[in-house]
Amino acid sequence: MEDIIEKVKKKSEFSQLQYDLVKDKLDETLRQNPSLKKFLGREKSEGHNKIIKLTREKLHRAYGVFQIEGKVGASRLLEKLSKVKTENELLAIHDDLLKLTLSTKERLPCYKKIYEKIFEITGWPKSIIDLGCGFNPMSFPLMGLGEVDYYAYDINGDDIKILNEYFKIMGDDLNGKAALINLEKVDYKTLPKADVGFLFKVFDVLDRKDHKKSEEIIKSLDCKWIIASFSTQTVSGKKMKHPHRGWIDKMLERIGYEFKIIEFENEIFYVIKK
Ligand SMILES: C[S@@+](CC[C@H](N)C(=O)[O-])C[C@H]1O[C@@H](n2cnc3c(N)ncnc32)[C@H](O)[C@@H]1O
Repeated sequence: MEDIIEKVKKKSEFSQLQYDLVKDKLDETLRQNPSLKKFLGREKSEGHNKIIKLTREKLHRAYGVFQIEGKVGASRLLEKLSKVKTENELLAIHDDLLKLTLSTKERLPCYKKIYEKIFEITGWPKSIIDLGCGFNPMSFPLMGLGEVDYYAYDINGDDIKILNEYFKIMGDDLNGKAALINLEKVDYKTLPKADVGFLFKVFDVLDRKDHKKSEEIIKSLDCKWIIASFSTQTVSGKKMKHPHRGWIDKMLERIGYEFKIIEFENEIFYVIKK
């Protein structure tokens, strides 16, 4: 088991991930493909390689926000950002930063509209907590907000380092802090209070067996509003026939929280009032 985990981690994208996270995805792969179990110890067999490939695919979906080139790219862009002189330059660099991760890249054509619609419902927040944030905090200039306290959390240590550098450069209006978190383990009640909580494309990653974690997050976060989003595409990139997540509609009705749904081409947003 340890050998194959090491092999999975040989790809630079996953080399920094904790052992437990990789093991978790490997277990999931074997649970879903029991016929592959016999290839665990059979190095170089097709089955062995398939286990590695499937585990990496799962890790990529859950944690692999960008490749190593992306990290280098981000540092270079932050360097440029620290020297910008005009608003146009600032926006152009943000565009390039947001192109480095899949979900932020996909949102580029409609980011402004997304925030416009969300804040039309919630009002303009003065504080935001963003869980499983990836690079989303770098969409700040597209939010159309004034001064904001921004608390960003993710399990990916590279993202956190880059985000803290980013916050330092942005200074004044964006009072941001990024920190490592494992949403599977943390006590949500200990997280900072904020006007809105963003959980963009995170519940699908967290809820592998049931929706208990998501429910706990929604109930425990000290926020007036929670915005949870979900992809409307299947893993193979096809449009989902039923993009609404029935479980969250039912759960919110059961716990008595009102919500509105905003739909975009690739993503659906639940705006939940606590
Ligand atoms: C699909 S990406 C979404 C990123 C960002 N919210 C966005 O929509 O642009 C999922 C994110 O959740 C993070 N993540 C996955 N599992 C996590 C966990 N257990 N604790 C904290 N963050 C986690 C990943 O590192 C990744 O950044």
